[in-house]
Amino acid sequence: MPSELDPRSRAERAPLLDIAGSRALPSWAYTDPDLWRAEFPAIFFRHWHYVCHDSALAEPGDYVTTAIHDQELFLTRGHDGGIRAFYNVCAHRGHVLVEGRGSKNRLVCPYHAWTYDLTGRLIGAPGSGKTEGFVRSDICLSDVRVDQMLGFVFVNLDPDAPPLAEYVGDLPEVMRAAVPGLEDMRPQQGTDYFGQDIACNWKVLVDNFLECYHCEPAHPSFSDLLDVPGTTHAFGANYTQQHVPGACKAENAAYPLDLEHDFIDGTFWLLYPNTIMGYLPGDPNFFISRVDPHAPERCRRHADQMVLLGADSQRDEQRRQWARDYVVAEDIALCEAVQRGMRSKGFAQGHYIINPDDENFTEECVRFFHRRYADEMGDALSVPAD
Ligand code: FES
Ligand SMILES: [Fe+2]
Repeated sequence: MPSELDPRSRAERAPLLDIAGSRALPSWAYTDPDLWRAEFPAIFFRHWHYVCHDSALAEPGDYVTTAIHDQELFLTRGHDGGIRAFYNVCAHRGHVLVEGRGSKNRLVCPYHAWTYDLTGRLIGAPGSGKTEGFVRSDICLSDVRVDQMLGFVFVNLDPDAPPLAEYVGDLPEVMRAAVPGLEDMRPQQGTDYFGQDIACNWKVLVDNFLECYHCEPAHPSFSDLLDVPGTTHAFGANYTQQHVPGACKAENAAYPLDLEHDFIDGTFWLLYPNTIMGYLPGDPNFFISRVDPHAPERCRRHADQMVLLGADSQRDEQRRQWARDYVVAEDIALCEAVQRGMRSKGFAQGHYIINPDDENFTEECVRFFHRRYADEMGDALSVPAD
């Protein structure tokens, strides 16, 4: 049954038509609470999710917390140097173990003080010595798969998912070649300026990231910084790439460039389903974000902005301020306006522009994302005949 929160009756829902051709996902895929719930087992609990850069867990005992939907997790570095991830829940009565981020040599549950070491083994349970059938050494935290790509730490809740290296394929080599110095970069503190919910379904934000068809009409300063009509696209098994060449203007409507030394182009990657990454012209820089589906019509973007150690902080700040105040603000306004349209009874299913002769005018990456999404959602996206 359609949820009472969804404005569209079942009869009004468009079936999934011609997604391999020129038709996009139906609008109810961006509003329906039941479909949103079905995305967790079908997609989010099966894929790799970016959590933090390896340097956020520099020392043994450092920990960070995160959540994939309602699954709270924490990651910590052990005394052996390895990073481990666990469900953030005590084995005794289920209290959450740690909050935020910090450093601890042992993990002591705030409820009854059960204590775990950094490998997740229970090493203390007050008063447990004489409890019949209680074997302390049998008890440990539930672990979660964790892996790294180029120093970026990912988790996966699915024990059967392919390893991260297999999933990303040649993406690390592609990124290494495009972003010299990437592995020497570190996250800038305090630059996660996407701390608030954005009023759109997470797929609206990803769709928006996946095409530069909107750049000339909607991002005037971006289009003066980069040569938008020269955009090209490439695909891996699980990622898309959009490359936008530089406009090669030292003075432009975004921020000044040093054409001899700076990155002059921009490249943007989606690692399916919800990791978005890229760099902009200027000093060496890189951003990586995870788009979280907070509610059927709300999402949140967690971002790390990476720069080289010792980078010119003024130039870095200038680029970030522009990105935040112009291109990101413009995109958020576009996405929120699209979300309002997704509830309209006058809109059932959108279209792609796929122009093989002019890659600037192509939404091939959006179609890649939608096909993949439709494959994974399967029957949940079909509209049975009433
Ligand atoms: S719930 Fe953690 S010690 Fe009781
Ligand atoms: Fe945009």
